[in-house]
Amino acid sequence: MLVTLEGIDGSGKTTVWEALRDARGDGYTFTREPTDSWYGEAVRRSEAERDADPLAELFLFTADHADHLSRVVRPALDRGDVVVSDRYSDSRYAYQGVALDGLVPRPMEYVRGVHQPWTRPPDVTLYFDVDPETGAARSGATNKFEQAEFLGRVRENFEQLVEYEPERFVRIDAAQPPEDVLEDAEDVLDRVLADE
Ligand code: TYD
Repeated sequence: MLVTLEGIDGSGKTTVWEALRDARGDGYTFTREPTDSWYGEAVRRSEAERDADPLAELFLFTADHADHLSRVVRPALDRGDVVVSDRYSDSRYAYQGVALDGLVPRPMEYVRGVHQPWTRPPDVTLYFDVDPETGAARSGATNKFEQAEFLGRVRENFEQLVEYEPERFVRIDAAQPPEDVLEDAEDVLDRVLADE
């Protein structure tokens, strides 16, 4: 089973992912995108670059995803592990869907189309929903993806993705205090694993 955590910057999903990782042991693989491979490092270099070409950046993120799938995600799933990824393909659809605006027609659909033939879609996605002002304030807006206006548009793309596949997403109110967000995430994870 592949579970992904998604949401705008400052939604608190990384805190939840770390708490889950510390609480759960055998049978789980905790992982994230961007990864810590050299592909992931290339992505982080690009992120720090205000004038990075958005198409080049899409393909760096996508290269990192391809390597993540073959090196980490598929082997873990083959072992029977529950894989929990902090960000995954929906981050590309939502973020690069905004970043590529004006460069390709229907950017989010374009990015989904690039992934569709070869990616492994998540079974369940926990969507940490928070308003963009809170997200930008919490994340400290240190990189170009973290500004409130940009995050507002990313959030609209996440909402569109939820609309496309309502059965895959579970919304978590990430405006709550961190301990309540974590409790909700624990409950959702336990419920989906019990249903399996
Ligand atoms: P993240 O690891 O969540 O942030 P941090 O470096 O603060 O731990 O992700 C880094 C940034 O990259 C974040 O602003 C979201 C963005 N991002 C994309 O634009 N596309 C993607 O495909 C992914 C995985 C992340």
